[in-house]
Amino acid sequence: MTVKNSILDVLDGKPAEVPPVWMMRQAGRYLPEYRELRAKAGSFLELCFTPEMATEVTLQPVRRFGFDAAILFSDILVIPHALGQTVRFEAGEGPRLEPLGDAAAIDRLPEAVDDDVLSPVYETVRRAKAALDPKVALLGFCGAPWTVATYMVAGHGTPDQAPARLLAYREPEVFQRLIDRLVTCSITYLHNQIRAGADAVQLFDTWAGVLPPEEFRRWCLEPAARIAEGLRRLVPGARIIGFPRGAGAGLADYVAQVPVNAVSVDWAVDRTVIRERIQPKVAIQGNLDPLALLAGGDALDRSVDAVLEAFSAGRFIFNLGHGILPETPLAHVERMLARVRALG
Ligand code: CP3
Repeated sequence: MTVKNSILDVLDGKPAEVPPVWMMRQAGRYLPEYRELRAKAGSFLELCFTPEMATEVTLQPVRRFGFDAAILFSDILVIPHALGQTVRFEAGEGPRLEPLGDAAAIDRLPEAVDDDVLSPVYETVRRAKAALDPKVALLGFCGAPWTVATYMVAGHGTPDQAPARLLAYREPEVFQRLIDRLVTCSITYLHNQIRAGADAVQLFDTWAGVLPPEEFRRWCLEPAARIAEGLRRLVPGARIIGFPRGAGAGLADYVAQVPVNAVSVDWAVDRTVIRERIQPKVAIQGNLDPLALLAGGDALDRSVDAVLEAFSAGRFIFNLGHGILPETPLAHVERMLARVRALG
């Protein structure tokens, strides 16, 4: 399959005739070649920190499907790891961290990440960039401070992010210090990814949707604005995609105040509102329901058509509303791509 359009053009403000397409979590367990390498790699973090393997995993989905972008293979939790917090990934259980139990634990975190720990990630970016067709964009990323903090405070994934929300209510100054630390680290981390060859970066705020408006503003919007502004001071043309998942009505303020080139939207948004109020300001990325992709068949076709109908006349990057589910059949991904590219 040939790459017809560049994500970078869309991020720079030019709509594409056929929307460029990639998928969140495109490098992962739904791919047999990923599972094979993962089995050989030992721990998940070892896979993230071994440039040879991480580069291979970054390239796998592009090789198989001809996506218009590759996303660096790593994880948002490499930042807590580089801050000295113990991070493990247990098969079938998700991440396990030594929880930051109190103010003292938060204040003990170092000012900056250990660059020796993160340098293999930058090496992966360099290698992936060198191996990719220049028409394929290479995306770097990090977790947004709020989402990373939810894992650092709880020590694991939680259904409602209650531990971090409680800490933010009970001891806002302490929580602010954690967020501030993550803002600084994220700017450096993304800057280094861009210097190593990333064409654009995505800020994943997976758990933005659980906060009331004032808390969303303080813990999601303001830190994202400081990261985007800080990065743009270092790299004036830095291309940034924000993903404040579930931000709902908060999305208008987010695009007004965070200097992003695009926002990624989940599948529950009101498409008319997004098209009329948000797409004129920034490019839209998303918003196929990952369960429609898993279901396949007519449901998938109808869902793809609805997304295209809503957004393809403007600046748009076709993607899922969240990561692809590991049990998704490869044939459904092929079917989705064929339908998107039939526009051309
Ligand atoms: O293909 C890509 O998107 C690039 C790599 C990538 C991974 N994680 C690899 C991964 C990216 C961009 C992420 C982001 C990430 N990681 C987020 C934000 C986006 C989202 O999906 O919400 C979050 C919250 C995490 C934290 C994380 N990492 C969790 C909660 C888990 C366990 C749950 C799960 O899906 O397994 C991980 C592990 C992880 N990160 C895997 C992969 C491929 C699976 C682990 C394995 O292969 O053993």
